[in-house]
Amino acid sequence: MTVLLHSDVPGYSCRRGKVRDVYDLGDRLVIIATDRISAFDWVLPTAIPDKGRILTALTLFWLNYLDVPNHLLSTDLADMGPAFAERAADLAGRACLVRKASVVPIECVVRGYLAGSGWKEYQRYGTVCGIALPPGLTQSARLPEAIFTPATKEESGHDQNISFEEMSDLIGRDLALSLRQRSLDIYQRASEHAHSCGLILADTKFEWGMLPDGEVLLIDEVLTPDSSRFWPADQYHEGASPPSFDKQFVRDWLETTGWDKNSPPPPLPPEVVERTAAKYREAYERLTGQSLGSSLAAR
Ligand SMILES: Nc1ncnc2c1ncn2[C@@H]1O[C@H](COP(=O)(O)OP(=O)(O)OP(=O)(O)O)[C@@H](O)[C@H]1O
Ligand SMILES: [Mg+2]
Repeated sequence: MTVLLHSDVPGYSCRRGKVRDVYDLGDRLVIIATDRISAFDWVLPTAIPDKGRILTALTLFWLNYLDVPNHLLSTDLADMGPAFAERAADLAGRACLVRKASVVPIECVVRGYLAGSGWKEYQRYGTVCGIALPPGLTQSARLPEAIFTPATKEESGHDQNISFEEMSDLIGRDLALSLRQRSLDIYQRASEHAHSCGLILADTKFEWGMLPDGEVLLIDEVLTPDSSRFWPADQYHEGASPPSFDKQFVRDWLETTGWDKNSPPPPLPPEVVERTAAKYREAYERLTGQSLGSSLAAR
């Protein structure tokens, strides 16, 4: 087990996202998943051991399973250069060499169930991202069919839900139609696999990028607990919010601390860290059918 809050590779500067450190190598990027965790739009001061390795291993599992055009080039640190290879003890299993794409500035969200901001909007307006849904649905209800609900990528604060028409105005109708179809297809295939593992894929978010020649690639993390809402099927009941496989303990604990969500968040106590780490491990083991210990050791 390792813990990595920040990756500092000598001789390179990186752009820190909330969870990933991104190194620019020109036409390629090295993306390193750290053990940072965010909640309520803040990065917490405490790391979740091995979280970055789990997110990376799950993304690799899905890219292999889905077999759609994507940005991945290599996970071999030697391909990233000597400065990365020399940091193998910290970086192995966390780093991906990818093709640098121009990021389509839309979060491509697909929802099969009524949860989160979708449930809030539905209660007020009977819609989700402007899509009218049948009346009388309850919290966590399965939707008649999965829907595509795009959002803008905001530099700070919450991403804003937008309609498909607004997405088309921003990036062009042909690309919007193509990304909607691709995102719905992947959601469908992934939710069938999740179902066979006893999990419900309630919703998920994809990011897409474009190469200079116009080729569209699936980028970023794919179908991880950070980008998706997985529910254990045996604990699913309509009308209630099932426990999700990610930050539930963290969010619940933060709500008990009196933290105002406008100032830096407090450190997490060890039991919250351990329970959260166990949830990430469980998501990996259920979705891949592999034990995490043996998979990480094999790297
Ligand atoms: N192939 C790629 N080409 C270009 N950018 C990519 C590629 N894959 C992922 N990215 C970007 O790398 C970043 C990954 O960092 P991370 O997910 O930690 O950031 P974030 O906190 O989600 O969001 P952001 O920093 O974008 O607000 C994201 O900004 C993502 O859009
Ligand atoms: Mg991200």
